Amino acid sequence: MPLAKIDPTTTEAWKRLADHYGKTKNSHLKDLFDQDPERAKRFSIRWSDFFLDFSKNRIDDTTLDLLLGLAEELELQASIDRYFSGDIINETEGRAVLHTALRARKADKVLVDGENVIPGVYEVRDHIRRFSESVISGKMKGYTGKAFTDVVNIGIGGSDLGPVMVTEALKFYNNHLRTHFVSNIDGDHVQEVLKHLDPETTLFIVVSKTFTTQETLTNALTIKEWFLKNASPADIALHFAAVSTNTEKIREFGISEENVFPMWDWVGGRFSLWSAVGLSIALAVGPDHFEELLEGAREMDTHFRSAPFRENIPVIMALLSIWYNNFYGAETEAIIPYTQYLSRFSAYFQQGIMESNGKSTARDGSRVNYQTGTIIWGEPGTNAQHAFFQLIHQGTKLIPADFIGYINSLYGNKDHHQKLMANFFAQTEALMNGKTAAEVRQELQSKGHSPEEVEKLLPFKLFEGNKPTNTLLIDKLTPRSLGALIALYEHKIFVQGVVWNIFSYDQWGVELGKQLASQTLKDITSSEISKHDPSTSQLLQYFKK
Ligand code: F6P
Repeated sequence: MPLAKIDPTTTEAWKRLADHYGKTKNSHLKDLFDQDPERAKRFSIRWSDFFLDFSKNRIDDTTLDLLLGLAEELELQASIDRYFSGDIINETEGRAVLHTALRARKADKVLVDGENVIPGVYEVRDHIRRFSESVISGKMKGYTGKAFTDVVNIGIGGSDLGPVMVTEALKFYNNHLRTHFVSNIDGDHVQEVLKHLDPETTLFIVVSKTFTTQETLTNALTIKEWFLKNASPADIALHFAAVSTNTEKIREFGISEENVFPMWDWVGGRFSLWSAVGLSIALAVGPDHFEELLEGAREMDTHFRSAPFRENIPVIMALLSIWYNNFYGAETEAIIPYTQYLSRFSAYFQQGIMESNGKSTARDGSRVNYQTGTIIWGEPGTNAQHAFFQLIHQGTKLIPADFIGYINSLYGNKDHHQKLMANFFAQTEALMNGKTAAEVRQELQSKGHSPEEVEKLLPFKLFEGNKPTNTLLIDKLTPRSLGALIALYEHKIFVQGVVWNIFSYDQWGVELGKQLASQTLKDITSSEISKHDPSTSQLLQYFKK
């Protein structure tokens, strides 16, 4: 069954939320805590080794009840069941959305067109294990008989961002293999990567769901040419592997049968790191860790499918974000992980969230008359504090932020970790409480400022506070907890798509630019320039001169 097509603004809950927003929009978080010190306990969820404190949000019990009521009215539970059961919920492409099947248990059954996909998934998982064990152990060798030392992932978008983010996040668990990523069609990118590599000891993985993506094919051909300067065409079979649904095209490239990893059209590119798209992850950290990553995601899937919405982390985080996006008019959301390992986490979810929910057409084909996908951004703390936190603290925009921190650091440097986490806690407290005029006055007076100076400086030193944050505290950054964290945000995307009545799993918006680029390439490479608007024509002429 497809997803229901309900305009959220027509629900009873939406109307009541609008009314409730009108009545509560001026309340300050500090007052909410003064009136109800128990709210921290009530607005927290403990699951496995995750602890979510969402009490620093501009909500009360009524807000939460109404948001949960909205989810009920929009048939969220039935939608979740359809998502996991392989129903064709990606209607515009006529596909199921089953990245969750990639991390299901072997005994599970998930049907697509009446066929259980799990045995096929496990065949590929076994292949990933065999292949990566053989590369890591040095059993698999390059054309001069040397073991591999470097792995290059050639892909873009979902065929790049997930492996980039996870290999960085799990660096602590790395073996001796060095991983590199070539994604941009910018030829300088590929040259910068190749300049350090030895063709004799480098393994290349071409990752493209469609195997038609211009960037990936161009980079793969450039790399093939570079490789063939030293090796012979028969050696391609030893040094290249590929991941795609388009296995025919892979063969044309010269990649040997044993190095071909299929994927399925029911896995969206931006949700594909759990498939063989994650081969570079399995190579970097070993297949056991890769499997743990999948297991963590599976555990989050179970939580999402079965926990009551009031205790369901992805559901709560999705609804809170809707509260700010649709009622407070917040346009962006920050994700701030307090670990350098997650330096690519926000970038990864920029694609996940913005490519999924950046839509303005409702599921019935009409134009939505409310806001949908949020703009995602962020960098790790504490670096972020010294870069853009000023705007979150004292700017004019409301920016709800997720703070993700770990109780234990990986190398166990206590001094650093205590300082890191002191900043982590201090920031959400500062964002919530702000600083009142009385506090600023007292601080300035105690520093010996004259009464005139105090009054002059006072407005600049005020902090309104009342900035909402979610705090997610996790025991330790492990492959398992990372898998669960990624799955959490994936399900947040799903819930928001259901509520906004949009299709989250297509991405037609990236097509137009691609089409125009192929015509523009002809204009660049031939003597004539076809008809463009005056600005583009002028730019093309200037470029060609
Ligand atoms: O940018 C559009 C997109 O289709 C993404 O959704 C996808 O992850 C990326 O291009 C790469 O596509 P492919 O894996 O088919 O090369």
